[in-house]
Amino acid sequence: MKKVFAVLIACLPALAYAAGGSNEHVVSANIDLTDKDSLKRGAQAFMDNCSGCHSLQYQRYQRIADDLGMTEQEVTALIHTDAKVGEQITSAMSRDDGAKWFGAAPPDLTLEARLKSPDWIYSYLKSFYVDESRPFGVNNLVFPSVGMPHVLEGLQGTPVLQEDGTIVATGGALTAEEYDEYVRDITNFLTYTGEPVKLERERLGKWVLGFLFIFFIIAYLLKKEYWRDVH
Ligand code: HEC
Repeated sequence: MKKVFAVLIACLPALAYAAGGSNEHVVSANIDLTDKDSLKRGAQAFMDNCSGCHSLQYQRYQRIADDLGMTEQEVTALIHTDAKVGEQITSAMSRDDGAKWFGAAPPDLTLEARLKSPDWIYSYLKSFYVDESRPFGVNNLVFPSVGMPHVLEGLQGTPVLQEDGTIVATGGALTAEEYDEYVRDITNFLTYTGEPVKLERERLGKWVLGFLFIFFIIAYLLKKEYWRDVH
């Protein structure tokens, strides 16, 4: 028993890491992977705002369309390059250009939600704040000295860090609630993209549980039948 405890305790740091690191600014994203409308909105928002710099090289447009039940029109709206619908989602920017312009190449984001956690991504997109000492005039609470500009500033507004540590944005196209919703959709989409089979697995899981339940009843009745004459 002691050994089991020792192993569990040894695992704790790993668990904390899996939960998105120890950054105090990481908050719950509250995403819902079964919400297809949110996933569709997130896919569109990602393609409109992020795909210029970040690729999703292990994901294809067609796969997204199939998984999310998109119409042809909806898929076409996703593609901003000359890629065909069956191709992977690459970005127009080369790694070298990215490294030159931003100090660090924009990484591929297919597996980002598994690498950092959905909560981390959501919080990161909400944690940009004005900092004139930085090359792009912004810094980030979750990712200090980040090389990425605040590409959603037009939507969020100018984010100013308050004395109490919160961030208040003004002058954006969206209200604070709408912005939260917007980045939650993007986070939801990136979480799906990190593990597309998750949708399928959760659906299958219900059937498996149902099957086990029915099987249990049959096994129980069978046992009663077998033992009936033994006593
Ligand atoms: C103008 C180019 C550009 C655009 C557009 C852009 N990013 Fe970035 N992003 C970067 C760069 C550069 C980095 C690397 C920053 C660093 O390492 O300092 C980065 C880093 C990130 C990271 C952290 C990756 C990691 O684990 O190190 C995430 C998450 C991210 N971007 C998400 C997004 C999302 C979501 C969008 C769309 C809303 C977006 N980015 C749009 C350039 C961009």
